[in-house]
Amino acid sequence: MRIDVITIFPEYFAPLRLSLLGRAIERGRIDLRLHQLRDWAHDPHHSVDDSPAGGGPGMVMTPGPWGQALDEVAGEDRPTIVFTTPAGEVFRQHTAQELSSVERLVLCCGRFEGIDQRVIDYASTLGPVRELSIGDYVLAGGEAAALVMVEAVGRLLPGVLGNPDSLTEESHNRGLLEHPAYTKPAIWRGRSVPEVLLSGDHGAVDAWRHAQSVERTRRVRPDLLPPPPEQPCQ
Ligand code: ADE
Repeated sequence: MRIDVITIFPEYFAPLRLSLLGRAIERGRIDLRLHQLRDWAHDPHHSVDDSPAGGGPGMVMTPGPWGQALDEVAGEDRPTIVFTTPAGEVFRQHTAQELSSVERLVLCCGRFEGIDQRVIDYASTLGPVRELSIGDYVLAGGEAAALVMVEAVGRLLPGVLGNPDSLTEESHNRGLLEHPAYTKPAIWRGRSVPEVLLSGDHGAVDAWRHAQSVERTRRVRPDLLPPPPEQPCQ
């Protein structure tokens, strides 16, 4: 998969060269290309922002550099174009799954008060556009969000994870939080690994893990569970 990132901070993406993702990039499984937006800003200061039309605080990213960057980077391939923004739909595991099935992704990192809306409208002539937020909080810029997306999408690509069974396990858990995990030693500081996990009874282990997932989801993320069936009026 080819992933292009357009940003004013390409250095932000250095951690992606580490670990599993780093190896996938080295092996060419992920073709990660970072682009400095300021390279398409032709004034002496390579400016990419200006004051908001209609007034108000902060600065807005100007359309000129973005338009040229998108023309050049998107080309004729009709890549999926993602704008990271706190005003977007929430990026979830199923979003990562959807994005992992496309051949080309272009991630556009907004800064300041956002990007001139005409850029987003124009981008949809070059390929399908998604405006995505990683959660209900405001970051200093879209780079951290794009980093999260590259990692969440990249690890789903075939051949990227050391053990692909981890993905199958996740899909079995669909809709529920992961059960707690344990390893050796069997007793640590007086605390034991639950006996069932040492029993060798795979059916019992699966049942215990499922029950733990349900209990944990009910406790910390009840919003993930389906609503209880409505009681008929007496
Ligand atoms: N830019 C600023 N905050 C963001 C968020 N929560 N998600 C995506 N991009 C952002």
